[in-house]
Amino acid sequence: GRLVVLVSGSGTNLQALLDASADPSYGAQVVAVGADREGIEGLARASRSGVPTFVHKLGDYPSRQEWDAAIAEEIASYKPDLVVSAGFMKILGAPTLDAVPVLNTHPALLPSFPGAHGVRDALAHGVKVTGCTVMLADAGVDTGPIVAQEAVPVLPDDDEAELHERIKTVERRLLVDIVGRLAREGWTVSGRIVRIGNPSG
Ligand code: GRF
Repeated sequence: GRLVVLVSGSGTNLQALLDASADPSYGAQVVAVGADREGIEGLARASRSGVPTFVHKLGDYPSRQEWDAAIAEEIASYKPDLVVSAGFMKILGAPTLDAVPVLNTHPALLPSFPGAHGVRDALAHGVKVTGCTVMLADAGVDTGPIVAQEAVPVLPDDDEAELHERIKTVERRLLVDIVGRLAREGWTVSGRIVRIGNPSG
């Protein structure tokens, strides 16, 4: 399967997908990497792997609608089977969501702690267990059907960075596993339930 991966930062989830897809039996390859900003490590990782990149900055467009249309058109030009939003810090609009399935990762156990500060919010709340979630994106913020989750312990003296790194170690493994299985086995969605296997058409 053809993957377009969207990043906004370090791109370690992207790197995990690049590494996994080096094995032809993985069943998916990263055909392009997109970002909403320049100069991030995620774009450098793509370039080092010889993967085409593109950047669409919201500020370059007169409206959100025009940004949505431009990034959707660019994504579509790569004919992806799946878009993976891995640390991409923008909500994708209908032009993208209506054209291609989007898988998103979140460093908390949704529906707990959605949004841009899931790790910080979980830590501040004093939870003893948090985790990560892989879900199909919908038009909301971290509200789509959940595909996979895994719990991660919070240690007494964790700070946000330590906890996030522990989560990301699990998140990268979960994302690589799920993307590979979706690519090889297909999936169906009924309501809130995502079933892997029985490829949908
Ligand atoms: C990941 O934990 C992702 O869930 C969150 O930001 C982090 C991105 O990490 N939204 P990276 O850019 O893949 O290293």
